[in-house]
Amino acid sequence: MSETAIIKIGDKSYELPIVEGSEGEKAIDITKLRAQTGYITLDSGYLNTGACTSAITFLDGEKGILRYRGIPIEQLAENSTFTEVAYLLIYGKLPNDAELVDWNNQLTRHTMVHEDLKRLFTGFPKDGHPMAILSCLVASLSTYYQDSYDPENPEHRQISMIRLIAKYPTLAAFAYKKSIGQPTIHPMNSLDYCSNFLNMMFAVPAEEYKIDPEISKALNLLLILHADHEQNCSTSTVRLVGSSLANIYAAISSGICALWGPRHGGANQEVLEMLISIQQSGLSVKQIVEKAKDKNSSFRLSGFGHRVYKNFDPRAKIIKKACDNVLTRLGIQDPLLDIAKELEEVALKDQYFVDRKLYPNVDFYSGIIYRALGIPTNMFTVMFGMGRLPGWIAQWKEMIESPDMKIGRPRQIYTGPTETSYADAKKKA
Ligand code: ACO
Repeated sequence: MSETAIIKIGDKSYELPIVEGSEGEKAIDITKLRAQTGYITLDSGYLNTGACTSAITFLDGEKGILRYRGIPIEQLAENSTFTEVAYLLIYGKLPNDAELVDWNNQLTRHTMVHEDLKRLFTGFPKDGHPMAILSCLVASLSTYYQDSYDPENPEHRQISMIRLIAKYPTLAAFAYKKSIGQPTIHPMNSLDYCSNFLNMMFAVPAEEYKIDPEISKALNLLLILHADHEQNCSTSTVRLVGSSLANIYAAISSGICALWGPRHGGANQEVLEMLISIQQSGLSVKQIVEKAKDKNSSFRLSGFGHRVYKNFDPRAKIIKKACDNVLTRLGIQDPLLDIAKELEEVALKDQYFVDRKLYPNVDFYSGIIYRALGIPTNMFTVMFGMGRLPGWIAQWKEMIESPDMKIGRPRQIYTGPTETSYADAKKKA
């Protein structure tokens, strides 16, 4: 007999089914709870709430495990490419050689954006944050593809997914070029995904730009590490918006906005700004750690802590090693890396961080690599979004193709005033 949970309310007991995942994770299925009992559950911040079943990414926060479609992140980081990982996440298996060539070819053939879309850039202030610009541009893509964005049409889904992955780097690089007043550089079909992005970011029409293969390789690694992380804030946002059957461009644009926040993807920008402020303020690392512990201050150590990882974030381990390698190979000595290492050492020994199981997360070292690659600080979260895009898409596709998809609509416990007449309320005004 399959396992069940018994819930007792007053003198009545209710039996609820238990759902078990392929890695032994268990959940109490409360789908019929309200119908049976009249009660709902309350779980602010969704600390205990599974919103879906998913076969894409497995992570074990206690053991520090992360796998895409069963393959450990360490092995993908070592052996794969970002576009291959994107295929893996979206279609559930590694592509064979012919499938990979075809996939890369399709991503290459859809990199250009409509010329009219470029005119949108002229409306943004020069110092507008690239995440705001990007979310706007991604949503605006829907205006160009109104004939092919029906989420319930498999052919529309396919072409929209390709368009998004192909065009995101073009839009990101265009946003950057606009912010520094340089002409935009068109995509080049002879280049691979990462090299093409670097070329659009850093080439200028006046001279030849040589792509450093080390930089392209490092970028590839960073994008792989960010490619999916199951039901995080931005992915859940993409699912929620997508569940209304809004088109994929609208759903992904919402994900970009969710990612922007400093408690989520925006932390990579915050980490670098924090390291620079430590360097400039002359404060010691110990003083910064004390400030992060002070409950009278809202300051937190950016790049530390994670909702799910209560052990080392496996991505942070890979990034820390890559950080050393990339800086050595590029011949860069960055004092911020020394500050980051000292900060990590001090925090990991501090009882406050030990007690709360706060470890460096993916954002802690990524900014130092991005900086070494020449990416400006306000573009860091845009880079995170480029990496996370296949994950958002894979999760959206899985949800749309699921036979039990329902619009996402949480409930609440109302705590406001009970019925008050307008006249009475006016008297009290
Ligand atoms: N610095 C100082 N204290 C912290 C930090 C931190 N970085 N992170 C958590 N804490 C403390 C909290 O103050 C709280 O202390 P308390 O129990 O005394 O009240 C305790 O640790 C638990 O923190 P919560 O905010 O309840 O944990 P939650 O799981 O909700 O938050 C989060 C996780 C948002 C990532 C948090 O650790 C944080 O704000 N970190 C800094 C921002 C960051 O790096 N975000 C990137 C996350 S990774 C990603 O999204 C890609």
